[in-house]
Amino acid sequence: MNNALARASGRLATRLRPRAALVSAAAGLALVATSMVVATSSAQAAESTLGAAAAQSGRYFGAAVAANKLSDSTYVGILNREFNSVTAENEMKIDALEPQQGRFTYTNADRIVNHALSRGWKVRGHTLAWHSQQPEWMRNMSGTALRNAMLNHVTRVATYYRGKIDSWDVVNEAFEDGNSGARRDSNLQRTGNDWIEAAFRAARAADPGAKLCYNDYNTDNWTWAKTQAVYRMVQDFKQRGVPIDCVGFQSHFNAQSAYNSNYRTTLSSFAALGVDVQITELDIEGSGTQQADTYRRVVQDCLAVPRCNGITVWGIRDSDSWRSYGTPLLFDNNGNKKQAYTATLEALNAGGTTPPPTTPPPTTPPPTTPPPSSPPPTTPPPGGSGCTASVSLNQWNGGFVATIRVTAGSARLNGWSVTVGIPGGSSVTNTWNATASGTSGNVTFRNVSYNGSVNAGATTEFGFQGTGTGPSGTPTCTGS
Ligand code: G3I
Repeated sequence: MNNALARASGRLATRLRPRAALVSAAAGLALVATSMVVATSSAQAAESTLGAAAAQSGRYFGAAVAANKLSDSTYVGILNREFNSVTAENEMKIDALEPQQGRFTYTNADRIVNHALSRGWKVRGHTLAWHSQQPEWMRNMSGTALRNAMLNHVTRVATYYRGKIDSWDVVNEAFEDGNSGARRDSNLQRTGNDWIEAAFRAARAADPGAKLCYNDYNTDNWTWAKTQAVYRMVQDFKQRGVPIDCVGFQSHFNAQSAYNSNYRTTLSSFAALGVDVQITELDIEGSGTQQADTYRRVVQDCLAVPRCNGITVWGIRDSDSWRSYGTPLLFDNNGNKKQAYTATLEALNAGGTTPPPTTPPPTTPPPTTPPPSSPPPTTPPPGGSGCTASVSLNQWNGGFVATIRVTAGSARLNGWSVTVGIPGGSSVTNTWNATASGTSGNVTFRNVSYNGSVNAGATTEFGFQGTGTGPSGTPTCTGS
């Protein structure tokens, strides 16, 4: 099974579990009284925590977490009771993970990731590439050096967390506010308009199992120019095969950026492009009934959109918020549940759609003529009992990222090597999921311990980054 299929079937299994539980619960009740079954099937059982209530429709309910609060017992008590997904509030940003170029510090991020994974929760990775929160060495860079440094950061961090992250915010906040619909000016944007897709390709190569998201704020109102600009970028990425799986809507609501009833249209319109949607940093300034009603509507909007995977609130207690003056969260400063909490829980318990698998079913109609009765061809598939390799290249002025797909022939591979011609003057600077024999000329890439075994007809991927021009010919694959 290739990685994409494994990802899709894993998600499908995850999403079907709550549904299966409901079905068996309903079957059990049928033995007691038919009238009770009718009541149970029309309304979901009331769960008493946010995470469990969201899980009824296969969704998660998460919180932004700060590592230095993991020793606060009130904070951790609420976190462990209510949530089943986390986002590191600051600990996985570029300045936190790579404070000096090439020196990575994962200690604080790992505390959050391990806290979540040891409890079976999801982790949203935030964020691989961003104009803000850059370490000083990166802020002072430009051009090819910056592009390569950014791609190296994406590759190294996504590789380190490979297999642990449900969804990565690969790129954060790359569009300008206001009516221009333009990209935000930044050192990253000045490396070339393709910096966003380059980041996504590098992230996919490094962790093929994670969902890759574009994340932004002020993109919640469907009529806003910024929303439309991001929509067009995602549409373009999907049309050109840039690996994007999801869009994050930060949803920091206040008077200047208020919740609008067209929010559901925003979520469903993006989902219709073939991506998942996630509410990634929800907070709503206000208090009392007004605040509670808005939380309720946000939850209802997510539940109404099958590809809305879940909701993350940006902090736990009001005092934990970056906007604490606006009391925008679900718990007060003492950790007590607010009216907004009750509205959120009720809306989650009221239920919604069960999301379909993220891979759409094939659109080709089934054949109407019977299959031919002649025996299957004896010609082996491409590569015979060996393998084939194909290259997907992301080239920019002065550098490239190449992703190589290795496909096994009719027999299982126990190991493979792929030789790629690197043009004169160019060189390989960084390789992932393979080891390289050199940096220029004919470079041979060999499998590493975890990806040498490939079933007949299945695929695996590796990648490398380089300076200059990327390979143009077809790579040669040798299996063993
Ligand atoms: O930890 C230091 C402390 O030692 C120092 O004394 C103090 C002095 O300023 O700063 C502390 O670090 C602050 C950090 O939050 C932790 O509190 C940083 O200055 C401050 O810049 C940082 O702010 C964070 C902000 O992102 C930075 O851009 C917020 O906590 C965080 O909630 C916020 O999150 C962003 C998302 O990443 C992206 N979307 C918007 C969202 C809200 O701004």
